[in-house]
Amino acid sequence: MEDKNIHIKTFGCQMARLDTALVSAALKDKGFSIVDNENEADVVLINTCSVRQHAEEKVFSHLGNLKHLKETRPELVVGVIGCMAQRLGSELLEHEAVDIVCGPGLIPQIAELVNKAVKEKQKSVAVTEKIRTASAENPALEDFESVFDRDDKDILGQAFVRVMRGCDNFCSYCIVPYVRGPEISRPPAAIIEQIKRLANQGVKQITLLGQRVNAYKYTAGEKTYSLADLLSMASEVEGIEWIRFVTSYPAEEFYGEILGAMADVPNVCNYLHIPAQSGSDKILKAMNRRYTARQYLEMLDRARQIVPGIEIAGDFIVGFPGETDKDFEATVNLVEKARYKNCFVFKYSPRPGTVGDKRLKDDVPLKVKKQRNNQLLAIQEKISDELSRQFLNKEVTVLVEGLSKKPHLNKAENQDNPQLVGRTAGDWIVVFNGPENLAGQFAKIKITKTSPLTLFGKLS
Ligand code: 5AD
Ligand code: SF4
Repeated sequence: MEDKNIHIKTFGCQMARLDTALVSAALKDKGFSIVDNENEADVVLINTCSVRQHAEEKVFSHLGNLKHLKETRPELVVGVIGCMAQRLGSELLEHEAVDIVCGPGLIPQIAELVNKAVKEKQKSVAVTEKIRTASAENPALEDFESVFDRDDKDILGQAFVRVMRGCDNFCSYCIVPYVRGPEISRPPAAIIEQIKRLANQGVKQITLLGQRVNAYKYTAGEKTYSLADLLSMASEVEGIEWIRFVTSYPAEEFYGEILGAMADVPNVCNYLHIPAQSGSDKILKAMNRRYTARQYLEMLDRARQIVPGIEIAGDFIVGFPGETDKDFEATVNLVEKARYKNCFVFKYSPRPGTVGDKRLKDDVPLKVKKQRNNQLLAIQEKISDELSRQFLNKEVTVLVEGLSKKPHLNKAENQDNPQLVGRTAGDWIVVFNGPENLAGQFAKIKITKTSPLTLFGKLS
């Protein structure tokens, strides 16, 4: 389909961003143009997230705007794709703005659905029926994924590669198993092929993605491949200089092996994102997380022994059903001991269909959730601030992402160069002034100032 402009707006995690990249590459391949501005678009696709209620509210608010836009531009086609599309299915079509609903498992059909909507004015819903009993094998998606792996609007020099789809973990708060379906690991040969192609296109850093990426397991003939195997295979691809993987689930399986790969394979970044979610054993049990706070902290100790200098990040949910002051104190305690580089804190929100929603009462008042959220962030901020100081007056290597959010700041201070942002192998954000064409390149930066979340420096 010819000369139609498509704008894609993404809410959600890296999985969702990767889906956007695939969809936009596929649409371009069919002759559509991808545009940055909604006002220039004939078709607006919203790639959505269901992980918290707030994420869905943002989408509905945006759909409200699009409904107004459609009053003046009735030709406009609006599609909802991603996790929320899968969760709500045809219910979403009831929204006046919506013409297309397409779940994450059926994105290979997206060009067809857009054509139907544009040419034939036909609304459509493509979602996976009975997603938990549907086969985890999805050959159409596997093909789609391995062909359309790149979108030039991604950060220069970087790409995501999905190594697993879905999740079988069933943490009691989490919607992912119900919207992304059963867990399946992709064939290592397809993954490595894809990494080679990306490297040929100039990609220097790849991030391997999975909901619990450390559970990657694929048996081919006699051999069972683990994430550690993938890491060492990926490291041999010429041109790939940094390899990351997210997100890890705190489990013994493959743990030592993966840390070993991190220590031994030079281009695996020393960074582990390993959410604890809570520090209370009672709450961890209710969340169906299969470890205790003590086991979790022991894992972090081991990581620091095996990989000196490793940077660790975490996630927490506060206000889970039944979380008392004492439970929260245990979480505070864990955060103090874990000494994360940073952590993300979320207020619990019940997700329809999950065990948490069906069996547990959302009994922590919002005010308490907010208070705990702020308290935990403040504790972490202090730790991040302390940890960031180790970099003062040191030189770090970053992969430059591009202009910072406020590139005009400090311009006068530094030879008219704009402000750029990059990240270290350990995922520290570094802001400095430099030529814009450094985007996608490695640079050495001397750190002159630190703050809890950001390091500031000068090109050295
Ligand atoms: N409520 C709040 N936070 C949640 N997360 C997942 N589900 C929920 C929920 N229902 C958080 C977890 C996870 C991160 C991606 O989102 O901390 O690690
Ligand atoms: Fe990503 Fe989870 Fe949101 Fe889906 S529900 S887009 S997997 S964060």
